[in-house]
Amino acid sequence: MKVGVVGCGFVGATAAYAMVMDGVGRQIVLVDLDRQRAEAEANDIMHAVPFSHPMSVVSGEYSDLAGCRVVVIAAGVSQKPGETRLQLLERNTAVFEKVVPQIAQHAPQAILLVATNPVDVMTHVTVKLAGRCGIDESRVLGSGTTLDTARFRTLLGRQCGIDAKHVHAYVIGEHGDSEVLTWSCATVGGMRLNEFQKYRDIHIGVAEKTEIDQKVRGAAYEIISGKGATYYGIGAALSRIVDVLIHDQRAILTISARLHDVLGLSDVTISLPTLVGGQGVISAVPISLNDEETAAFHASAAIVREATESLNL
Ligand code: LAC
Repeated sequence: MKVGVVGCGFVGATAAYAMVMDGVGRQIVLVDLDRQRAEAEANDIMHAVPFSHPMSVVSGEYSDLAGCRVVVIAAGVSQKPGETRLQLLERNTAVFEKVVPQIAQHAPQAILLVATNPVDVMTHVTVKLAGRCGIDESRVLGSGTTLDTARFRTLLGRQCGIDAKHVHAYVIGEHGDSEVLTWSCATVGGMRLNEFQKYRDIHIGVAEKTEIDQKVRGAAYEIISGKGATYYGIGAALSRIVDVLIHDQRAILTISARLHDVLGLSDVTISLPTLVGGQGVISAVPISLNDEETAAFHASAAIVREATESLNL
């Protein structure tokens, strides 16, 4: 199975490395405007293969994306300290207007997985640009809030003294400052959160929830101020999504996709729990939210829609 990665900065290269260590795919092609960088990253990542799974990692041109099942798009600029994800929009849209048509030309059957921020709006940009090249919107998705959901589950699991794998909780809306932690439908070991608290005699009140919310929402800013960028978490998330796509795993992930008639919204590209399989986006999962979460989700969707409409695509 062949996977392409366009954009070999920290995120793209780390995603390729994560796929090697996870054994996702059999051939990875790295494409970047900076060919020397792409070749160096491919050679470096190839040296991890003997410690992992038999696969090849090469650099190439857009034409070498031919036959890719999935193409990860991580091209563009990333947040600088203090910069919001939405502030990257104009620069990255200009990059995508060059990148997406070339991917569509050389890998017209591929599923496009967007990582570039602001990822929900960039996913919508890709839906539009790829749509002009005949790629159906179901074959375009973004990493969305999959990383935020993982951050939420990790922190909630720690608060409960439970492995995060047994925590089901979602972050929805924009992958950004307006994202929504859906506390009302969080479960631990199949129990609703308040029941689990009674079972384990623990208390997760307003103070604890506020702390977890702030840590999830502010995670990227915190890391960026310390090391200039985030890439391990998102790289692992991208590897997981690619694995689901190429093996038709039918997973429910809070990816970003263009959705219709969901949670009171007719047409929006945003992050919600979504059933994902070998053909891409199958459908959003109609989770139930309380009034506060519904209002916050609609506010987040309005921010994404306003940013999208500002592009006049
Ligand atoms: C983060 C970047 C991927 O949240 O937006 O780490």
